[in-house]
Parts: sequence; C-alpha cells; structure tokens
Amino acid sequence: MVNDLKKLFITGCNGQLGREINRFYADKNGIELVNTDVDELDITNIKAVMDMIESEKPYAIINCAAYTAVDACETNQDIAFKVNVLGPRNLSIAAKAVGAKMVHISTDYVFDGTKLTPYFESDPICPQSVYGETKAEAEKMVTMFSDRFFIFRTAWLYGDGKNFVKTMLRLSEDHDEVRVVEDQFGTPTSTVELVKAIDSILFTDNYGIYHATCEGSCNWAEFAREIFRLAGKNVKVTGITTAEYNAPANRPAHSVLENRMLKAVGGYTFCEWHEAIKTYLDELLK
Ligand SMILES: NC(=O)c1ccc[n+]([C@@H]2O[C@H](COP(=O)([O-])OP(=O)(O)OC[C@H]3O[C@@H](n4cnc5c(N)ncnc54)[C@H](OP(=O)(O)O)[C@@H]3O)[C@@H](O)[C@H]2O)c1
Repeated sequence: MVNDLKKLFITGCNGQLGREINRFYADKNGIELVNTDVDELDITNIKAVMDMIESEKPYAIINCAAYTAVDACETNQDIAFKVNVLGPRNLSIAAKAVGAKMVHISTDYVFDGTKLTPYFESDPICPQSVYGETKAEAEKMVTMFSDRFFIFRTAWLYGDGKNFVKTMLRLSEDHDEVRVVEDQFGTPTSTVELVKAIDSILFTDNYGIYHATCEGSCNWAEFAREIFRLAGKNVKVTGITTAEYNAPANRPAHSVLENRMLKAVGGYTFCEWHEAIKTYLDELLK
C-alpha cells in the first residue's frame, strides 16, 4: 500500500494560528502534525532549523511563528528582525533543501494604506512600521529562498490567544465606555476562516502570494461595537482618531485586501467578517 501520509511541520504552534491549525487537522485522515514552538525549535537558529527539517522531511512547513507585538517591534527591532525575517529565511532554505512546500503568513501592514479601494496581491508594498518592514522583508526572503511557497497576507486576526476581541471583552468587565480608533479600516479575520483558506490551496501547486481575509471591511470602533452587541455588553464605543490614540507604530489607514488570487485560482471565497465574529463569540461565550 502506498503511504500518502502528509506531514505538516508547524512552527509557533502555541500561537493563535498554530492552535487553529492543530484543531483543524487533528481529526483529518492522511495528515500528521509535527508541532514546535520556540522551546522545541527557535526559528532564528539556522542549524537547529536545518537539523530538524532534514530529520522530519515534511510535506510542508507552516510558519505560524512571528513577533507580532506591533508597537513593541518599534523598540525591539533586533528581535523583530530575527524572528520575522531570519526565521522565515531559515525555514525557506530548509524547505527547499528537503523539497517541502513553504507556507508563510504575512500582513496587510506591508501596505501604506493610502489606496482607497481594496489592495490586490500585485499592488506595490510600502510598510509604515518596523513590524510591517520585517514582514515585507520576510516576503522577499521566502520568495528568494524557497521555490514552492504560499504567502498568505491576512489581517486583524483573532482566535485562541491574545487579540482585540479578547481585549474588548476584558475592558467590558469594568468599563461603561471605551475609546477606539475609527479612522483605520481593514477586515477582522478569524483563524478558523484563515485555516480553511490555507487548506483550500495547500495541497495544490498554485504557488504564490494570496490575500486572505474575511469579506467586507470596517474600522476598529465598528468592530468593537459589533463585539459588544454580539456579547450582550452595554458598553459605549467612542470613536477617536489615530493621532489621539498615539500608538508607537504607524498603521495603515485603509488596508482592506481583495482576495483576488484565492477567488481566481482556487475558486475560494471567505465568509463575511460579521459572520466570522458571530461564530467565534458563539463558541467563546457558550
Ligand atoms: N495577530 C494579527 O492580528 C495578525 C495580523 C496579520 C498577520 N498576522 C500574522 O499571522 C501569523 C500568526 O499570527 P498569530 O496571531 O497566530 O501570532 P501569535 O499568536 O503571536 O503566535 C506566534 C507564536 O510564535 C512564537 N514564537 C515567537 N518567537 C519564536 C521563535 N524565535 N521561534 C519559534 N516560535 C516563536 C510565539 O511564542 P511566544 O508567545 O512565546 O513569543 C507564539 O507562540 C504571524 O505571521 C503574524 O505576523 C497576524
């Protein structure tokens, strides 16, 4: 009998996306998962990466590891560079060495946010923050060093871990009012929906860069209002400007992504963001 078990090698398995990948593939026939986070494999260490990938010889590497604290990246630039740039470079070199597919996750923050219509995969990138710069540099590394890659640019991600939704719910415990930025537009995307999209393309040879967010768009204040409405919390959301919020890192004002490649190549359509957040909160609050 032919053994067609496909081994997926996960980095950053304890993060939001890593956990969802595990949930999604846990009961799927024909899939074997190898889980690593920084304690098992520090992706910044090229020798450790090469040794482990050469020993495991996976079908695909799914890089869920990253330094995702956008504001902290401004001050911890060395760590951001090592984890977000050298890490994916190391994994891409290792992927190529063993003939594995390379899956990497990027972000809407590679764009400057000045385009008022949704960004296509082919639009020029122009990051505005250290985090965005490292993710943009990583895209170059992945395309340069691996030959069978999928780069998924996602946005405003929430799942099992630290995220905006959890922050809003926590604030609702002791606040009647919260002030939330209303001049940044994007698309909240659940890890559940992102993993379905990754799965739709992972086992094909349609390599390339994919935008991968839920459908529709909103600003952060609108997102917060929807979270409180769905969670039955009576919290007033007062919209403020980016300048008033005064975060250390610049963020794009309008980074809505059009999933043109997923639709055209894979015939895949995400659900609308309202639907995804309802599903998430139904599960979280039941
Ligand atoms: N979160 C968002 O809103 C968002 C938006 C767009 C794109 N993305 C991208 O989506 C991907 C997944 O994001 P996420 O929200 O799931 O991230 P996350 O929850 O922050 O998880 C990242 C994981 O990587 C681990 N890690 C950090 N440094 C490492 C290293 N040197 N070696 C191995 N593992 C390391 C982290 O461990 P520690 O926790 O111990 O550091 C954590 O478990 C990332 O590429 C991110 O840039 C995220």
